[in-house]
Amino acid sequence: MPEFDVAIRGGTVVTASDTFRADVGIRDGRIAAVAETVEGAAREIDASGLLVMPGGIDSHVHFAQHAGPDITPADDFASGTAAAAAGGNTCVLPFALQVKGTSLRESVEEYRRKADGECYIDVGFHLIITQPTPEVLGQELPALVKAGHTSFKVFMTYDELVLNDRELLEVFEVARRERALVMVHAEGYDAIRFMTERLERAGHTEPYYHAASRPEAVEREATHRAISHAELVDVPIMIVHVSGREAMEQIRWARQRGLKIYAETCPQYITLTAEDLRDAGVEMSGAKYVCSPPPRDRESHRAIWEGLEQGVFQTFSSDHSPFRYDDPRGKLTPKGRTSFRWVPNGIPGVETRLPILFSEGVAKGRISLNRFVELAATNHAKLYGLYPRKGSIAVGFDADIVLWDPNRKETIRQEILHHGSDYTPWEGFAVTGWPVVTMARGEIVAEHGKLVGRKGRGEILEREISPYAAAPA
Ligand code: URP
Ligand code: ZN
Ligand code: ZN
Repeated sequence: MPEFDVAIRGGTVVTASDTFRADVGIRDGRIAAVAETVEGAAREIDASGLLVMPGGIDSHVHFAQHAGPDITPADDFASGTAAAAAGGNTCVLPFALQVKGTSLRESVEEYRRKADGECYIDVGFHLIITQPTPEVLGQELPALVKAGHTSFKVFMTYDELVLNDRELLEVFEVARRERALVMVHAEGYDAIRFMTERLERAGHTEPYYHAASRPEAVEREATHRAISHAELVDVPIMIVHVSGREAMEQIRWARQRGLKIYAETCPQYITLTAEDLRDAGVEMSGAKYVCSPPPRDRESHRAIWEGLEQGVFQTFSSDHSPFRYDDPRGKLTPKGRTSFRWVPNGIPGVETRLPILFSEGVAKGRISLNRFVELAATNHAKLYGLYPRKGSIAVGFDADIVLWDPNRKETIRQEILHHGSDYTPWEGFAVTGWPVVTMARGEIVAEHGKLVGRKGRGEILEREISPYAAAPA
């Protein structure tokens, strides 16, 4: 009997720390050998000319997430994980949202049911807390953390999701006690409402004004407030989807004070601008780019690159939150036509995250291959309790691997993507570097742009306590 199920031969292995020529042997879904030569495999894959990297881990995606009575998200767990796999990812972390009036436990069960039997790659759930009642804080959260849901997201804006300062502090305190990691959506609710109403009164209701209603000051203020609350409670937090220099300055300031503040950014903040939200000839076409925080400007792109190069950011996620454009239950909802405030927030991006980061980062000489791996996979695993099971190429890790062609030139187009949306914000965007084979726990799930894996093979993960969350008491 052959020693290995699969041998990946002749490629260049890239991890967050090293780049070297090696073969990789896989047995029972795990990496069993990384050596100069691996022989004796039932199947060999020729990786010459390719990079052999840990499969992407996207720790910020929204699949089948409740978005209001008249809105339908474009991706469920089947299409979302299919798109992720085609884009070189082997694991994603979506959210289980507590809809107001339901318990957190019921909400998690509902999302597990939605995901069960549907996923092409492994998924793990963060929790979104919208009603931190004594029951949620005292019983449900501690039990759910013990059950492997070791991170939660809180919102400082959105009518249906916002927590007030007292509630934020209470959630932070539970996170500290239970050693969970809190992800914070930092935009200030009252300031956004004030700006929105002022813009609407002036007749500025088109999608473009979404960006004007939540300028950087709104994000900066909320980032500072979240950091101050974290300092009071003495708990590490993760500021997600940072869009520009002003929030970054707050994060740098906090770190200089010795606070453990982690930060994430996304493809939209290095490639899109608020100008994309202007309706370009077609009514409401700017709605395709409505997301929060909104994309800013070219100077913000430079700032974010500085942060990616200098280590301000630990993770680069997609914040994939897709809606169809030409659909009354998507971006063109009848209410959305009356004002930007009703346009569903979010854009698709899980399938294009890695090519954009590789092309704009590695191919253009801004970041090293190792930093790419760290931002794309390793740090997600480390921060969210999946390391040393996922996020690297070493003996004992899950055989979650992407074979990557660093020279392949491709143009991002809706017709080559697998997501459920009917558009991509990056239509026509030229990239260098593309995933060729995605292998999850030793099985090929996507190959040359085709999905070949079996729906339902992806598991729902229980994650460990993050070593980057609060220290033991
Ligand atoms: O606009 C966005 N980002 N929608 C997704 C939900 C969130 O805030 O992450
Ligand atoms: Zn958010
Ligand atoms: Zn999000």
